[in-house]
Amino acid sequence: MNNRPVRIGVLVSGSGSNLQAIMDGIADGRIPNARITVVVSSKADAFALERARNAGIDGIFVNPKEYTDDRAYTEKILTILESYAVDLICLAGFLRKIDRLMIERYRGRIMNIHPALLPRFGGKGMYGHFVHEAVIESGDRESGPTVHFVDEHYDHGPVILQKKIPVLDTDTPETLARRVLAEEHRIYVEAVKLFCEDRLALKDGTVKIR
Ligand code: GRF
Repeated sequence: MNNRPVRIGVLVSGSGSNLQAIMDGIADGRIPNARITVVVSSKADAFALERARNAGIDGIFVNPKEYTDDRAYTEKILTILESYAVDLICLAGFLRKIDRLMIERYRGRIMNIHPALLPRFGGKGMYGHFVHEAVIESGDRESGPTVHFVDEHYDHGPVILQKKIPVLDTDTPETLARRVLAEEHRIYVEAVKLFCEDRLALKDGTVKIR
């Protein structure tokens, strides 16, 4: 058996608390046999870059403004990920559209985390506080994060893990966001662990956990 560590590339744009959760999961052994080899950010001042560098991981800012379109931007990121021999790409608060080029090359090997129970409250414009505002507005009694494989459509690919939590009468978008985020950190670590243990199988567009 090939025991080479799974090499992970994480794409970020913001605070990077999910990146931190994955780094911690690797450091304390909950995620076995894995290594984050590179972190790529679409924002120069993303705190996630600092988290990466503090951990001795290469953190690279790729400025979207320097590329003519999503495809050219994606191509640049792919070149970086390939130069780090990445096996798994984790989107962790990455706020740019990914061209299908990346999906074709890494199908079944790109994960994303979304702060709602997909297919509810996903799609264009559904990010950050907009998601939690929409959940509270809807009157739904449950919310929670989703980790899924990325396909060609926004917030759409096969679900790997979800965690339901109650929406409280007293919740504001901020309080709900905080509780969902805490669960994000748990299920993202769990999903990456399952991947690294080779326990995720994609069959007919759904994920089976072996
Ligand atoms: C999370 O809420 C995640 O669900 C969404 O973007 C946010 C990223 O937060 N995709 P962080 O940068 O990991 O702290």
